[in-house]
Amino acid sequence: AAPVQYQAESATISNGLVESNHAGFTGSGFVNYDNEVGSSVEFTVTAASAGPATLTFRFANGTTTNRPMDISVNGSLAADEFSFPSTGVWTSWTTKSTTVTLNAGTNKIKAVATTSNGGPNLDRVDV
Ligand code: GCU
Ligand code: CA
Ligand code: CA
Repeated sequence: AAPVQYQAESATISNGLVESNHAGFTGSGFVNYDNEVGSSVEFTVTAASAGPATLTFRFANGTTTNRPMDISVNGSLAADEFSFPSTGVWTSWTTKSTTVTLNAGTNKIKAVATTSNGGPNLDRVDV
């Protein structure tokens, strides 16, 4: 099936703000993670069946420094310090994908910043 888009600005945000001051986002904005360890966005996503699924994160990182995040699925670490490298400027958005295992039905996907720089600006995840 075609991927479903889950907007970060509609997800559960801990220590971050919904903003729209850097063009190129989709939906109504993006999440600006607070620049600290542990800031996070948690998506509730639905899978038709159990098994592998591709998560595609759309983000911007206008610094020159990687902003890794731990990606967990239903409370289990699925991608350790998954990298969100520089995109050059905050208006340049790109995607990175990883494959995880989902349950049939509802799943919680959480992206937690692991450095004091916080996460990138996060637009959405496609599942
Ligand atoms: C700038 C930018 C923010 C970004 C922040 C950061 O303030 O405008 O969108 O989140 O840098 O470094 O995290
Ligand atoms: Ca930030
Ligand atoms: Ca968005």
